Amino acid sequence: MKAGIFYGSTTGNTANIAEEIAKAMGIGAADIHDVSKASPDDAKAYDTLILGSSTWGAGELQDDWFNFLDALSKSGLKGKKAAVFGCGDSSSFPDTFCDALRIISDAVSGAGCEMVGAYEPEGYDVTDSNVCKDGKFVGLAIDEADTSKNAERIEKWTSRLKSELA
Ligand SMILES: Cc1cc2nc3c(=O)[nH]c(=O)nc-3n(C[C@H](O)[C@H](O)[C@H](O)COP(=O)(O)O)c2cc1C
Repeated sequence: MKAGIFYGSTTGNTANIAEEIAKAMGIGAADIHDVSKASPDDAKAYDTLILGSSTWGAGELQDDWFNFLDALSKSGLKGKKAAVFGCGDSSSFPDTFCDALRIISDAVSGAGCEMVGAYEPEGYDVTDSNVCKDGKFVGLAIDEADTSKNAERIEKWTSRLKSELA
């Protein structure tokens, strides 16, 4: 199982979380890709894609993801596994909290990826944004409104991911 991380980040928050996830998953620096600099073809090297985006506008992808996601979805993803993560702010944007995770999840699952890393959310005030699907969050939602839980959430999510990918 070879995993690569692809992330888009405007102010660096999702980039930092990408580093933390990489550390916890044992993924090296060469396998962490900023989508503003990467090619969708870089994804071909991996069995598992860990895809991260912050949410901007009102529930939109981080800017660098728009063209990248479109091209990635057309690049032949069948047979790969994928997980999503990203940063948002449940206090200022409760209705669109971390919606970008759902946009990416829907796009790559529609392109043939098997999704992993969904979980029952605990300790979040908001569960009615699109990040929530069938009572679960589609991926790791990091909340700017409560960063004290970041380390614990990353630890729990990556442990779960490791067992799902084992
Ligand atoms: C103009 C603006 C719009 C935003 N829209 C959303 C949103 O719809 N949903 C959300 O969860 N967070 C939203 N956020 C919060 C960002 O996602 C949050 O600041 C995040 O940590 C940025 O991560 P980055 O540095 O990786 O880009 C918004 C922030 C700004 C400034």
